[in-house]
Amino acid sequence: MSKPIQQDEVFRAGEGDAWFRRNAASLDAHAGHDWVLDTLGRLSGRERITTVCEVGCASAWRLARLPEVLPAATRRAGFDLSADAIEHGRKRDGALELRVGTASEPPFAEQFDLVIVSFILHWIDRSLLTRSLAAIDALVAPGGYLVVADFLPDSPCRRRYHHRDDVALYTYKQDYAAAFKATNLYREISRSVFHHSETRGELRAADDGDRAACVLLHKPLLAYPER
Ligand SMILES: C[S@@+](CC[C@H](N)C(=O)[O-])C[C@H]1O[C@@H](n2cnc3c(N)ncnc32)[C@H](O)[C@@H]1O
Repeated sequence: MSKPIQQDEVFRAGEGDAWFRRNAASLDAHAGHDWVLDTLGRLSGRERITTVCEVGCASAWRLARLPEVLPAATRRAGFDLSADAIEHGRKRDGALELRVGTASEPPFAEQFDLVIVSFILHWIDRSLLTRSLAAIDALVAPGGYLVVADFLPDSPCRRRYHHRDDVALYTYKQDYAAAFKATNLYREISRSVFHHSETRGELRAADDGDRAACVLLHKPLLAYPER
């Protein structure tokens, strides 16, 4: 029996770079409102966040803007499976620590005060989902924070990825913050619900497949009080 093709392989083999080429101009121009930056800007105690890692950071446009809300974040790291996006980010801002890598095998072994995962979990091959969630959890230092932004439909669903018809690729929409909370290692601090099309300046009739949420989670030092 032939081995089923993994989405990550397709994205790593070129679709990630293709996504970046289609979106490079709008990513670079991203100077306006961002739900992740907005959430972090309202976090009390954010001055204690000094190390940050963004999983699937694309060209690192958000990491470049991070000092707007986290002035103490002296170490800003990120990775993405698109080598073109990472190369672009490195050329634009040499202060960022950017590497090529995937969520299931992050190219960083250390832990960070804050990890950001924005609109990448819906791309991940289902056979790599639990491994990716575990690897993301391993990046978050005890006492640190995790921001999960992604689509939030009424119930889990998948949608055919319309940029490729030669191979069956899907995006999978579900409440990814719930997966981290189910471990009991994370507590939800805030949740902003919005429509993804708004972030591109579009207006669309209400559609639960377009609904998204930016969820801020805290990983307490003591997840299991003794009693
Ligand atoms: C929709 S974009 C989001 C980019 C950025 N996080 C943001 O919020 O603007 C998805 C990004 O995730 C990257 N990506 C997809 N699957 C990935 C994986 N398994 N590991 C790392 N990055 C991945 C893509 O290359 C792309 O840059």
